[in-house]
Amino acid sequence: MKLFVKIAALWVLSISAACADRGSVADAPIVPLEKSGVAEEAYSATETATAMVNLNGRSRVDLSGKWRYIVDPSRLGILKAGRQRGFPKDRGPTNHPLIEYEWDTSPTMDVPGDWNSQVRELNMYEGMVWFRRKVSADPQPGKRYFLHFEASNYDTRVFLNGDLLGRHIGGFTPFEFEVTDKLKAGENSLVVSVDSEHSAKTIPAEDFDWQNYGGITRPVSLIEVPETFIHSYWVRLGKAGHIEVDVKLDGPNRAGSMVDISIPSLGVTVQAKTDAQGQAQASFPTPEGLKLWEPATPTLYDVKVASNQDSIGDRIGFRTIEVRGPKIYLNNKPLTLYGISIHEEALGEIPTRRMDEAAARALLGEALDLGSNFVRLAHYPHSEIMPRLADEMGLLVWSEIPVYWDIDFESEKTLHEAQTMINEMIARDKNRASIIVWSVANETPIKDVRTVFLRKLIDNVRAQDSTRLVSSAMDKSAKKDGQAENLIVANDPLGEFVDIISLNRYDGWYGPLTPAEIYKVQWETIYDKPIILSEFGAGALHGYRADPLTRWSEDYQALMYEEFIEMTKRIPNYAGMSPWILKDFRSHRRFHGRFQAGWNRKGVIDQTGKRKLAFDVLQNYYNEQDSREPLKP
Ligand code: GCU
Repeated sequence: MKLFVKIAALWVLSISAACADRGSVADAPIVPLEKSGVAEEAYSATETATAMVNLNGRSRVDLSGKWRYIVDPSRLGILKAGRQRGFPKDRGPTNHPLIEYEWDTSPTMDVPGDWNSQVRELNMYEGMVWFRRKVSADPQPGKRYFLHFEASNYDTRVFLNGDLLGRHIGGFTPFEFEVTDKLKAGENSLVVSVDSEHSAKTIPAEDFDWQNYGGITRPVSLIEVPETFIHSYWVRLGKAGHIEVDVKLDGPNRAGSMVDISIPSLGVTVQAKTDAQGQAQASFPTPEGLKLWEPATPTLYDVKVASNQDSIGDRIGFRTIEVRGPKIYLNNKPLTLYGISIHEEALGEIPTRRMDEAAARALLGEALDLGSNFVRLAHYPHSEIMPRLADEMGLLVWSEIPVYWDIDFESEKTLHEAQTMINEMIARDKNRASIIVWSVANETPIKDVRTVFLRKLIDNVRAQDSTRLVSSAMDKSAKKDGQAENLIVANDPLGEFVDIISLNRYDGWYGPLTPAEIYKVQWETIYDKPIILSEFGAGALHGYRADPLTRWSEDYQALMYEEFIEMTKRIPNYAGMSPWILKDFRSHRRFHGRFQAGWNRKGVIDQTGKRKLAFDVLQNYYNEQDSREPLKP
């Protein structure tokens, strides 16, 4: 018998032997797999209520740890939900001939975390991955329970004990599902599908300049709250020199309840009564001795909100921010922004989207070492720990949603998803004194449909929060007839609707000029509004030293910074900068084998924190400006 045939025979024998001990496939009872219990249309459910705020102040179980995962590039877990693959059912070990998965023996990865940095084979994977975690619970009568996700990138469906709880679209903001009536005493099966793929219909769309880290990228908690609980609150210094308070209760006794707001160190306690929707407002004169929050003196106060069933504490700073004509005013004193842009990616040779306090403190510590008083957290809402640390460390913050480059500005669905991102970003962080700018976009093309779309986002921001500034990083000018080659005119029609004209400029890097020619660049503006350089920079490989006109050298990047600092003297209404960028970061679209190899090299530090010459140039400039000294009237 030829070797081949012999092996084949052995193979057949082995298979049948394997089945023999469990009855042959032919004998197995082919019972129809029950439907996953979820109708197809339920998979499109995307409505999630805005999540409760301030997890630090709540009773919760942190579900961080090793979660099982199954990679599902064909999305069979969704497309075939009613047949072969009911991943959500978590059936446990079975010999059913149509079931080819077993959660208890699937591999594991850390949650929170991204699969790109944890699983080598998934480093560039964009698609669907399923996760499963067992959750032990002991639900108590009179309590309510929520599964809270701080973020998951990008399209997430959550199942508990086989039932779909709902779906959330968006990669960088929190969402939650009430599970009070679904949580069992003892062990529960939590199954989550995450699809990181982007398309022309997502936000951002398919082209963007950062690593598309997929996964449950921020912590998941099981939260226990009283039957009627404090869902959210907002305590801030209003323009009229009063402290304004909004509180929202959620639950059967939300209406007509008394809520107390106190700032013990200032001897303040005020009461308010909730309306039929469970909402209460209060306003009181600024207490004597209130120290205003600003970078040099980032004073935070313990604030307590209490109702008859619930109470929660937070640390809140009080300040005002406004624009008057071409200037920005913080606490009525003129402000210049000496900043740096930051992506959410931890320092390290193998970077990750996972951001814990130590990783966040390391990044913001570099910004402080620069002498920054400002950080642009690009291009999406960062982990909540970042604005909380900025509150503590005295760094002003620009926070933005990832409406980036060209997206489907024609689509109502895209507009709804962008509005949801705005709502979730503001809801989570509106108590953070450090945040002074909400940004609705980055480098979007000048066309009517885009300006209409962004105007709607801006109107939504202003309707929710009139205490902060609104902007959008712009990079295009409408050329005037006969406009000189090196003339920059700040005239994007979007400028009419924002408070700060924020421009990304790459003269000397993208385009014909060298850094030595930037002196030729002149500026004009059509707006009586502050102008900031929300980006400028150049790529440099740490350790590559050459003459200052050699691209990719640290010397070229440093000359670029010197020339842009000099150029600020020629910018009308100049109000600050946030150069691009603090740290080299992963990007699949940076192909240069010698200088990039999948890294965007515009950092003033490399991925492990090694500083480049440009860091020193910027640090010297900021120190010369007394950038972290108390503001002068
Ligand atoms: C753009 C964009 C950034 C990008 C940068 C670059 O301005 O806003 O996201 O990384 O330029 O080209 O490096």
